[in-house]
Amino acid sequence: MEKFFIRGGNPLKGTVYISGAKNAAVALVAATILCDEPCTLENVPAISDITKCLDILKSMGAVVKMEKEGVIYIDTSTINTTKVPYKLAETMRASSYFLGTLLGRFHEAFVPMPGGCYLGDRPIDQHLKAFKALGATDEVVRGANYVKADKLVGNQIYFDFVTVGATMNAIFAAVKAKGQTIIENAAKEPHIVDVANFLNSMGADIRGAGTDVIKIRGVEYLHGTTYATIPDQIEAGTYMVAAAATKGDVVIANVIPKHLESITAKLRKCGVCVEENDESVHVWVDGPIMNTTVKTQPHPGFPTDMQPQFSTLLTMAQGTSKVTEEIFNNRFRYVAELRKMGADVSVEGGKVAIIQGVPTLKGAPVQATDLRAGAALVIAGLAADGLTEIDNIHYIERGYEHIDKKLRELGADITRVIVPDNEHVEMTS
Ligand code: EPZ
Repeated sequence: MEKFFIRGGNPLKGTVYISGAKNAAVALVAATILCDEPCTLENVPAISDITKCLDILKSMGAVVKMEKEGVIYIDTSTINTTKVPYKLAETMRASSYFLGTLLGRFHEAFVPMPGGCYLGDRPIDQHLKAFKALGATDEVVRGANYVKADKLVGNQIYFDFVTVGATMNAIFAAVKAKGQTIIENAAKEPHIVDVANFLNSMGADIRGAGTDVIKIRGVEYLHGTTYATIPDQIEAGTYMVAAAATKGDVVIANVIPKHLESITAKLRKCGVCVEENDESVHVWVDGPIMNTTVKTQPHPGFPTDMQPQFSTLLTMAQGTSKVTEEIFNNRFRYVAELRKMGADVSVEGGKVAIIQGVPTLKGAPVQATDLRAGAALVIAGLAADGLTEIDNIHYIERGYEHIDKKLRELGADITRVIVPDNEHVEMTS
């Protein structure tokens, strides 16, 4: 078992380069199924969720070659099944994207129930609603979603609420359907735009991505392309918060500052200095961190995927802060771990955290409960007095490329330690 040992207290300093976006790249990999020729993806992050998506493609007969770090050649013309293996599907939410892409190309998909971080109940009813609107049927067969259609025909799809995953899947199923599809109340996240741009670069006809109405005219053939993934908004935000929490001075490079606006605005509200440049943001602290209120919202609101990291910063702010989680109904499980480090947080009704700032956190043995919770604990460990030992770091590696190396380059004292199962590690401070 691997753990991170972090000796806190070093202000982060220097420049960190942001990798390709996880939540875009997992969708791009699945979308290669719609391409009738080989294609090449660039700026693909080396994270475990991508490895699993590529494994899904390989398990179905696709040819996948890593040309160099971050550059992957994919030929899905050799796919010989529309079934995704249980073991791969059950480990991540993004496996649900294979429903839309297989349906879009082969008019059939068998995808075991998606897994992913436990953040509360995560049904896929809106995904299925979109498939049905286009003429597909769905049933649950041996614990898997089985969707099929004789033909897919464009239609109007209105989502009951904003959902990233269902918007992606509606695009995938519609891109080769006959006629026009109009998706209303669509998600506007940067990764939706990235996927639409990728498909358009193959010859798809998708307009309006990034607004709440997306119009798609189905095409018959999608040609090969080479496409680079956008930078990861959440990885960037995580380093911005880590810089603030350690009272550091960090340039976060290779980003699209516009994607970071809601995070930048909240950091500034807390007294953190943020300077936006063309492709980087510079974050530093020259005074106390102040309390604030945060409410998570679909893009362009404050992202739920930054909520645990930002709440962690607020545990060290002056005064009382209030954080409301509007997207998921169980995204405060990390609070119990932060309390072990001396944080003063109470959670009301599973949706609202009241955070009373404390002067410092104290190092402790803690466990990552999911991906962003793990990132939050890394930030807590970097800022805390003494040694923090983080267990379950495989969650963190689902979404952060080389996080320990990048942090060391910024001056953090973080080590990856292999600990035999059940071995007790004596904490020295
Ligand atoms: C995507 O999840 C991301 N995952 C999540 O990233 C992110 O937190 C989330 O969008 C919100 O931004 C990927 O992109 C792979 P949703 P997704 O559909 O698509 C409910 C991370 O840490 N819902 O926008 O699953 C759902 O339960 C993560 O990187 C339904 O009820 O999110 C949730 O409460 C974790 N029925 C809300 O809607 C549906 O059919 C929003 O979910 C679909 C969703």
